[in-house]
Amino acid sequence: MQEIQVLEGISSNTTELKKQFYIESYGCAMNFSDSEIIGSILTEHGYTHTNDEFAANVIFLNTCAIRDNAEKTIRDRLKALRNNKKKNQDLIIGVLGCMAERLKTKLLEEEKLVDVVAGPDSYRDLPKLVAEVEDGNKAINVLLSREETYAEISPMRLNTNGVSAFVSIMRGCDNMCTFCVVPFTRGRERSRNPESIVQEVRDLSAAGYKEITLLGQNVDSYLWFGGGPKVEFKNASEDQKNSAVNFAALLEMVALVDPNMRIRFSTSHPKDISNEVIYTIKKYDNICKYIHLPAQSGNTRVLEAMNRTYTREWYLERVNTIREIIPECGISCDIIAGFCTETEEEHQDTLSLMALSRFGFSYMYKYSERPGTLAQKKMTDDVPEDVKSRRLTEIITLQNQLSLQNNQTFIGKEVRVLVDSFSKKSKDDLSGRNDQNIKVVFPKENYQIGDYVNVKIERVTSTTLIGKAIN
Ligand code: SAH
Ligand code: SF4
Ligand code: F3S
Repeated sequence: MQEIQVLEGISSNTTELKKQFYIESYGCAMNFSDSEIIGSILTEHGYTHTNDEFAANVIFLNTCAIRDNAEKTIRDRLKALRNNKKKNQDLIIGVLGCMAERLKTKLLEEEKLVDVVAGPDSYRDLPKLVAEVEDGNKAINVLLSREETYAEISPMRLNTNGVSAFVSIMRGCDNMCTFCVVPFTRGRERSRNPESIVQEVRDLSAAGYKEITLLGQNVDSYLWFGGGPKVEFKNASEDQKNSAVNFAALLEMVALVDPNMRIRFSTSHPKDISNEVIYTIKKYDNICKYIHLPAQSGNTRVLEAMNRTYTREWYLERVNTIREIIPECGISCDIIAGFCTETEEEHQDTLSLMALSRFGFSYMYKYSERPGTLAQKKMTDDVPEDVKSRRLTEIITLQNQLSLQNNQTFIGKEVRVLVDSFSKKSKDDLSGRNDQNIKVVFPKENYQIGDYVNVKIERVTSTTLIGKAIN
């Protein structure tokens, strides 16, 4: 409902509003979700959203800093934006998100055309920052907060298909994996008030959405006890402790909002995913049987160097438990190839862990050293580039085989698909995802985007299940 109000606000005011913002998101789903919060904040302050960068008075890049490449992409984009600025001298350019937080004032020094730098916890300040630039100054706010969750802000859905939406349930990360920049760019872990989460899901359901993804860097560690970082839980009052809501309880609350709304969540951390969460997934038909469970490595010594705080055996036990409780559960992974000091044997352990876990899908990366992280300070990025590349290729090749094998298990079976788009290859075909988050393509007939369709799978590739709707 609130969603619709925001949209009405835009159209009824369009004629008298002049300031238009354009926003591009990079990096993880969290950033895409943040851009929707930013959209809502700006709209409330008299801006309208445009998809035309040349019509905009303000251009925001919501950036990622996770790997060196992510930052290179932004530097290139900023170069290209010089053209926009030439065409429109008054154009304001803002860099938001994780790269803004990492580089702070350096960004203003290094990239002369940037006017605004704002970190992930300072988005309420954006209208003020832009006003400062209009007064002739550069503007920056990179303060991180221990409380900010933008809890009551109803995100303006940007570039939406009207079917799936992200719902942020927490911010920050306290894990300090040695390779990772996120704890520095997003600050301390804090959970969002569950009532505001449930309300947002109700609003999405009323607006016709069919699928939500609950977002956090480590959703299994979600814990609401009345505000503040989780590390302060031990100081909470008895009342707060007794009424605390953990991730399993939140999942249940969200699943109960609308049985026709699919619930997904990302990302799970192997050290924190509890049996209680796994049983909750099993209990509700509308919670998708799919867990993204990044391992990063399959070798205990490397995992220790990464400060992941679990062993190879722990990880495999979690996978086995998931499969025992929910045999059909899809599991996907993130893998880093060539972390500091990784030997050939240790790399082989990653390959064997992948095979044993039978991942349906993985995001796979070469290790990229990040300034300020513990790995950069205390370890040597000593795996040569060509070795990292070769290991990554082996990881990708294996994953392609595993994905194909996993997809083949669906041949002849019926899967329930939520249609989210037309197939990229043909307008006569629709595309959607099954419960396990695998892409399914089938002839359109009379079905539409947003429909649930039962599809019988006839053939597969390593990325797609192909079949026909069952009437
Ligand atoms: N919170 C999530 C991941 C967030 S970052 C988790 O803990 O799983 C997404 C992925 O980027 C990570 O899982 C990791 O595989 C990868 N990544 C993070 N830092 C990296 C680095 N310095 N080099 C290469 N890959 C990295
Ligand atoms: Fe980064 Fe580790 Fe936190 Fe994930 S859990 S965001 S990899 S520090
Ligand atoms: Fe990138 Fe920040 Fe997400 S570094 S991966 S946008 S949390």
